[in-house]
Amino acid sequence: MVAAQDLSAWGPFAVTAGASEIASQLVQVLTGRGTRADLLGESIQGIQTVIITEGLSNLPVTERHWQVLDLCKRLYASGIRIMILEYAGAGDFAQMSGLKGLSRTLRQEWPDRSIITWSLPDSASQDTQAELVLDAITSDVPEADLDTSGASVMEIGAAPGLVQATPTDTNVWFVPGGARGVTAACVSELARRQPGSTFVLGGRSGIAPWPEGLQPTSDMKLLRSALISSAKARGEKPALPDIDRQARALLAGQEIRHTLDAIAAAGARAVYLQVDMSDRDSLLAAVSQITSQYGPISGLVHGAGVLADGLALKKTRDDVEYVFGPKVEGLANLLAAIDLSQLRHVGLFSSASAVFGNTGQSDYAMANAWLGAVARKLAAQLPDATVKSFCWGPWDGGMVDATLASHFATRGISLIGLQDGARIFADQILQGDRHEIELLIGDKWAG
Ligand SMILES: NC(=O)c1ccc[n+]([C@@H]2O[C@H](COP(=O)([O-])OP(=O)(O)OC[C@H]3O[C@@H](n4cnc5c(N)ncnc54)[C@H](OP(=O)(O)O)[C@@H]3O)[C@@H](O)[C@H]2O)c1
Repeated sequence: MVAAQDLSAWGPFAVTAGASEIASQLVQVLTGRGTRADLLGESIQGIQTVIITEGLSNLPVTERHWQVLDLCKRLYASGIRIMILEYAGAGDFAQMSGLKGLSRTLRQEWPDRSIITWSLPDSASQDTQAELVLDAITSDVPEADLDTSGASVMEIGAAPGLVQATPTDTNVWFVPGGARGVTAACVSELARRQPGSTFVLGGRSGIAPWPEGLQPTSDMKLLRSALISSAKARGEKPALPDIDRQARALLAGQEIRHTLDAIAAAGARAVYLQVDMSDRDSLLAAVSQITSQYGPISGLVHGAGVLADGLALKKTRDDVEYVFGPKVEGLANLLAAIDLSQLRHVGLFSSASAVFGNTGQSDYAMANAWLGAVARKLAAQLPDATVKSFCWGPWDGGMVDATLASHFATRGISLIGLQDGARIFADQILQGDRHEIELLIGDKWAG
């Protein structure tokens, strides 16, 4: 039980009405303890702490995360202390939450602001949930899982040793995002360990044929000028954006062919499906094609992801939708479409930004923190499967271009080599300890 004078240091409170029942309950309980509290209205004059309840609402997953971010943006100028509430493991996958990724990022972008995220047990009654919040208010813990045994802060471990014997089984792997970038390196290594398996890689890009007479290259600049020269030789005057688009499509096709060749060279079956993870119909068509042609999906590696980096104050709903599309909505739709009981290995490509937050990546950190929550839930649901969320630091490849790489270098954060990362990935997903679900791979970042 919290004494009224303890609460007065943090009040008056305003509670947002996103989850209206728990919001009213909180107002009632806070008022009952003699401190001023009300639902958040137009004026925030005199308010010291705002409790955001949108994370407890049953809004669709992307909209729920966007609304919390948008409220934080609106409250920024007031300098008010912000408390964000979420559920630790509610309902189906789409109802899970990654809001700790938001507060971890906002604490970096707004170091003079107090922003915390607490997770509530969804199984507890609303009375109990309100009491848990009240008990924690004076603790000033920046983030915690609140339950009846008190506030606990979850630690994410480094990749542990291997516990299982080298598996000799075969699987039908579905790997959205697996034909390109760092996931391609991981999946090629997996094929070397499981040559009897089928690997279905998915991505939006098509496999554009390399134009005859054009020297093979993976250098964007060289390719661009070769394309311009050959267009001019044909008497055309190409627009630069068209050349860029053509060059990008050619490089994507080349990268996909290279990955398929590496998998086939390892002796495994390699298949590429054009699929947009942000588009539910496209995804469902891919799942039905895989299961009818190759059998149930027993290995799932989710590597599809995009960035829309920018400071939180500038973030738009479009940014959040863009980042959540393949990573969050795509996975939620996928998990709802496949037979989960067939899964033996699940690897989700998350990021260290989910663990530490990262300036400019509030949307990305939320999406990746959501992956961690999903991994924990899946692991509990599938005790015979190995489920891992890989919280990767920056790799020497993939979405880390030269600018990002030098940014990490100035922060003293080393890059993960393609071979090292691929080896860690294959070791962990095939032979890792089933109880270690969220793994941090790479350097710790300063907050
Ligand atoms: N590289 C790193 O340092 C790093 C660090 C931490 C976490 N990660 C995570 O690791 C994963 C791979 O990253 P990366 O660096 O390899 O990035 P990348 O080179 O940009 O590759 C991203 C992959 O995702 C696919 N993809 C994107 N949107 C998609 C969509 N809507 N539907 C289907 N596929 C889609 C892309 O294929 P198409 O373009 O053909 O669709 C591509 O294969 C991402 O989830 C990323 O968040 C990477």
